[in-house]
Amino acid sequence: MRDVLQIRRVATGHELELPISEATIRATDLRQLNIGGEPLATFDPGFFNTAVCHSAITYIDGDEGILQYRGYRVEDLAEHSTYLEVAYLLLNGELPTADQLAAWEETITLHRRIPDKLKILLAGFPYDAHPMSMLMASVAAFFTFYPESQDYTDPECRALNIARLIAKMPTLAAFIYRKGKAKPYADPDDEYGYCHNFLAMLFKQAERKYAADPRLIRAMEVLFILHADHEQNCSTNAVRCVASSGNDLYTCVSAGIGALHGPLHGGANEAVLKMLREIGSLDNVPDFIAAVKRGERRMMGFGHRVYKNYDPRAKIIRQAVDDVFDITGVNPLLRVAQELERIALNDEYFTSRKLYPNVDFYSGIMYEALGFPPEMFTVLFAIPRTSGWLAQYQECVTDPELKIARPKQIYTGPGHRRYVPMAQR
Ligand code: ACO
Repeated sequence: MRDVLQIRRVATGHELELPISEATIRATDLRQLNIGGEPLATFDPGFFNTAVCHSAITYIDGDEGILQYRGYRVEDLAEHSTYLEVAYLLLNGELPTADQLAAWEETITLHRRIPDKLKILLAGFPYDAHPMSMLMASVAAFFTFYPESQDYTDPECRALNIARLIAKMPTLAAFIYRKGKAKPYADPDDEYGYCHNFLAMLFKQAERKYAADPRLIRAMEVLFILHADHEQNCSTNAVRCVASSGNDLYTCVSAGIGALHGPLHGGANEAVLKMLREIGSLDNVPDFIAAVKRGERRMMGFGHRVYKNYDPRAKIIRQAVDDVFDITGVNPLLRVAQELERIALNDEYFTSRKLYPNVDFYSGIMYEALGFPPEMFTVLFAIPRTSGWLAQYQECVTDPELKIARPKQIYTGPGHRRYVPMAQR
């Protein structure tokens, strides 16, 4: 039977039948109903209930706390895969065979270096520039080095530039980190895998080879896997929005980095650490919780638009934190975070609003234990999210349903006014 929604406008008796498909109606079908000369539209700030695309990449069940990439549970991927395997999966739809993975890793290794002129650009930023701003500007600047990426309709050209950007993100991030520390850059080491090489470029001193603890390499892989994609979030929406006007992928990912930087999105990991430091000790936790409940503060790292249950990524990070602390020593802020969580999970304010820890609640504590300053935390998020953004970019620009993103507004300004000459104002 045809599934339809019947709408009747009481004032005029006008009736409309809207086909229902995939649990949605087409917003444009509503335009058939004319309200005082205006076609009927929906009002949905923040896209609470509006689907903007079909996507086969990531699935989330927010009530059950389930996250799957291409059908695979993130828990399974975090346990068994590497980040590059997951990036391949996101981009190609299938897990790679051993040969495919080897070829993919080789391609990524080949493209790790960044152009010398980009190093000059980095050197031009103020000594205390925020790492996310430098990352956003540098990724946008890649387009000046690879202008052929504008030809996004060519699959080969797209694949080359996707690999380039995934390969260069850790190098860029490590260079930005070392610039902040006024240390000379450490070039990529082709003998190392993606995460080991990243740790080497970050922390290498005078030694010829940087031997990272395998448990830290694994922790990095897990963090990268957990952050790789998250369907239509704020930054992915920014990537898709910029892609919809026909842009190259560097420009699009740069827009995604900008969106990610905000404290309500990826920037929450930095904000969580600042919050924990401000609370400082267990004694101050009750006062902080009271301020949150009075609406004076926000508990950073808590709450999510989609998850109304414990964020599965937060669960995995919470477990991984202990492994990292075995090596690095315990971060005392962990106890403050645990106490905040304990109180919140038993407090009506948080439970009635279904506010649970999200991915950012424990990741900052782990990043700090790994030796990163808080300003770098969101950069660490952006590196793996690049594969998700690019998978979404690829899906977007090859989507036959793609239209330039152009929302409507409800105009509330003045009606037509006669121009007032300067002398009469
Ligand atoms: N602390 C205290 N109260 C909160 C929080 C929080 N972290 N999050 C939501 N609430 C309350 C709101 O005040 C609101 O209460 P009300 O109904 O009494 O007005 C209710 O919960 C619903 O909140 P909204 O802001 O409407 O929810 P929305 O879906 O728009 O926001 C968001 C989601 C932005 C993530 C929000 O929960 C938040 O600000 N969290 C803190 C920032 C954060 O951790 N962001 C990272 C998210 S994960 C990521 O992007 C990678």
